[in-house]
Amino acid sequence: MAALHHTDLTPRVGSLIETDRAALLSGAHAAEIRELLEERSVVAIRGIEIDDEQQVALARTLGEVESSVVGDIYKVTFDRKDNPVGASINRATFFWHIDRTDLDVPTYASILTAKVLTPTGGQTEFVNTYAAYDDLPDDQKEELDDLKVVHCMRTAFLEAFPQPSEKQLAAWARMPEKVHPLIWHHRSGRRSLVLSNSATTVVGMDDAEGQALLTRLLAWATQPQFVYTHEWQVDDLVIWNNTGAMHRVREYDPDHGRLLHRTTLLGDEPFDTRKDHDARQG
Ligand SMILES: [Fe+2]
Repeated sequence: MAALHHTDLTPRVGSLIETDRAALLSGAHAAEIRELLEERSVVAIRGIEIDDEQQVALARTLGEVESSVVGDIYKVTFDRKDNPVGASINRATFFWHIDRTDLDVPTYASILTAKVLTPTGGQTEFVNTYAAYDDLPDDQKEELDDLKVVHCMRTAFLEAFPQPSEKQLAAWARMPEKVHPLIWHHRSGRRSLVLSNSATTVVGMDDAEGQALLTRLLAWATQPQFVYTHEWQVDDLVIWNNTGAMHRVREYDPDHGRLLHRTTLLGDEPFDTRKDHDARQG
């Protein structure tokens, strides 16, 4: 089979792939897509009309699909009849995040396909967190290298829901707090920044100092040269590498029926690979 044709969407983030449905679903390009995800964080395909079954089949060529109570396809929507739970927490996706910082091993990647769009807003934006790390001055890389950050979903949700109900507070409190390194030392030898709306404090710093550092780094990482903004068209398919990207969706009218279908791939690399290494040694 011919090599996969791809072009850069921006100099540092995102690749646009051109292929046909049969080739995509056959898995013939799976290894190349995984390589692009590693290098470019995001892969997009325009106008590839696939159904749910085909989306899950594509996902299985790339990794192990996360099954949830709703099945292999999660509907990203504010419509409660399509997604009773997710619809109430969608607002949190309007802020920069890495998925599943409440886990030691986050998800590897997600696939989104666009079904219904809004006339304005709803673009999904991605930061290449490898590139954002690579461009830091060397002295800062050294200073940040051993820092650890407390991640708490309450922090993430409070940003989206500043006046929560008791029920919301109770639900958030059930999600575990995690401590992750600020710099992800990947098994590949590469490093990336771990920033997210769940980042609460820096271990060993007082709250104000830690929050100032996290705010400064978020401003650094979200500079235009590290960001790709996907302007959706119906039948677009976008895959992002959750271990090398932060993402958010631009605010849109929740009553307009926007609907994307998501399939998520399980991860196998913990945020803290050094702890993993130590544990296996010990
Ligand atoms: Fe997300």
